[in-house]
Amino acid sequence: MSTLFAFLHHLAAFTLVGGLAVEFVLVGMIERGAALSLASARRLAVADAVLGAAAGILLVVGMLRVFFFEKGADHYFHNPAFLMKFSLFIVVALLSIIPMREFLAWRRALRAGQAAELDARRLRRVRLIVHGELGAVVVILLCAAILARVGWI
Ligand code: HEM
Repeated sequence: MSTLFAFLHHLAAFTLVGGLAVEFVLVGMIERGAALSLASARRLAVADAVLGAAAGILLVVGMLRVFFFEKGADHYFHNPAFLMKFSLFIVVALLSIIPMREFLAWRRALRAGQAAELDARRLRRVRLIVHGELGAVVVILLCAAILARVGWI
């Protein structure tokens, strides 16, 4: 069981990074002036939905590992690397609501045959959040390595 949940954890983590990479590339292109077509708005919404599902699975599977399949909740909730990893995950999950709402609004507008509202300031904010999410994944991976080795060395 422990191996199965470790596998699911990896699968969800890689899927999440894949979704983020798609968002990173598409948002970057739009910010540099590429037209936002219905197809790219749909791709963004799909990538975001996949990302959201992967994050949900990570949270559930991660919690099951914490409580049942690894070193026990007491170990993790007294471990700075886990607390850092978990807090970062929650902060990023909450921040990701901003791009999600934006992508859904763009798709809704284009579907209705209207132009999507691409305000430069909001677009920059979305790009910064997606950037920050990718940066947070790097720190989360470092925390995971520290957790697996039970320390730095
Ligand atoms: C972007 C989010 C996340 C990424 C990229 C990520 C990635 C990883 C990686 C690569 C490992 C090491 C391999 C392994 O043992 O399976 C790991 C371990 C682990 N992760 Fe995550 N994880 C994420 C979120 C979470 C969350 C939200 C939780 C808990 C709620 C969690 C709980 C754990 C646990 C308990 C381990 C085992 C650590 C140990 O060996 O003692 N992870 N994670």
